[in-house]
Amino acid sequence: MEKILYINKKIKPFSKSIIVEGDKSLSIRWVLISSLSKKKSIANNLLKSEDVMSSIDCIKTLGSKVKFKDNKCEIIGNGFNIKKKSNLSINAGNSGTLGRIILGLLINSKNKIKLSGDKSLSKRDFSRVIKPLKEFGAQFNKKKSLPLIMKGTENPKPIKYFETRGSAQCKTSIMFAALKSEGTTEIKARKSRNHTELLLKYLKIPITIKKSRDFDIIKIKGIKKINSLNYKIPGDISSCAFFLVLTILSDNSQLLIKNVNVNPSRIGVVKILKNMGAFIKFKNQRIYKGEKIADIFVKSSKKLKSINCPKKWNSSAIDEFLIIFLVAAKSKGVSYFKDLGELNKKESPRLIWASKILNLMGVKNIMTKNSLKIHGNPNLNINKTIKIKNFLKDHRIFMMSAIAASTIGGSWKINDADSIKTSFPKFLKILKELGR
Ligand code: S3P
Repeated sequence: MEKILYINKKIKPFSKSIIVEGDKSLSIRWVLISSLSKKKSIANNLLKSEDVMSSIDCIKTLGSKVKFKDNKCEIIGNGFNIKKKSNLSINAGNSGTLGRIILGLLINSKNKIKLSGDKSLSKRDFSRVIKPLKEFGAQFNKKKSLPLIMKGTENPKPIKYFETRGSAQCKTSIMFAALKSEGTTEIKARKSRNHTELLLKYLKIPITIKKSRDFDIIKIKGIKKINSLNYKIPGDISSCAFFLVLTILSDNSQLLIKNVNVNPSRIGVVKILKNMGAFIKFKNQRIYKGEKIADIFVKSSKKLKSINCPKKWNSSAIDEFLIIFLVAAKSKGVSYFKDLGELNKKESPRLIWASKILNLMGVKNIMTKNSLKIHGNPNLNINKTIKIKNFLKDHRIFMMSAIAASTIGGSWKINDADSIKTSFPKFLKILKELGR
């Protein structure tokens, strides 16, 4: 039976300190990179969500051993070779990140491997990784979507590739294939999150990165083996963002969110919300294995103003736009978000869904193929019933709706509460702790 969330009152003022669960991008990367080492890797605070569990199931199928003990996860990988067995089949579930980046690791599999996913993932575009991986020498049965059958090559050839979307998944897939190639791969990549680069640097892999304003030039040399990777996974800014907005839009509230990854390539949401007048401060900033970490302090913010969001901030806030749109709905003036076509290629067509939800809330908005204009109203208050369903079980649509219901009023019935299991299983527990 599908779990439904009912919310019919705003949250009361709160003043608390919380931690959010481990970063999803780092958790999936840790699992896949650890699968390449024959030594034992240990992670603390690995995100135990469905996307990460799918990653673990995939590497187990490919030959790694995995153990959970308390808050620790141990992986003993099977090195650079893929298990030599025909008809291997792996399932990436709902995860675009896992599905796309694991294909890079399969580049040297001489046997065919089948990759499938759930209904939402099967609608998503895989041509963005199929294209570069073919240049390395891989073969695919199809051009675009899951389920796919891939056959790698014994001698992947290094490539020179121009990644134009600003997709970290695509960039990572290429970097993973590059690790298994003989020679140097060069990627000119539009700016996107750089966790893979930082992890590979920390592991002393031969990688150089030259940064310019819009692009990075990454050169990476193939290697034969990799060290184990012990890692304490920090909190996920994308999960944190829902509680930043909960606090900003609530009365007389404040919140400290401890130990969050604030990598500059991920904090677009903080830049955008601050620009709109929100009070957010980083405290206790430190560096952990190349990643920036901080505690984030946020307060209710009364005087919110609209934003004409610069395109250059899009990639560093790509998973947070839904929740940012809520703030725009409660701000003075008309906000404009542009060049966001990629949002319609996520777990659900998110730009379309955001516009639908804003309409249900009575917020005037104008959507084009890749932009959204939101007419904000600081006095916005909902007094009607709102039902959210059929959103391809997109976890972020669910959480955005729960935050809207807790801050803007109305009587909400939000379907598919189980969707949060993909990225933030403790979301509802934390919301309850804060007083919902
Ligand atoms: C991710 C990259 C982003 C993001 C996704 C996680 C990653 O996707 O939306 O949730 O971990 O590399 P794109 O690479 O498609 O931009």
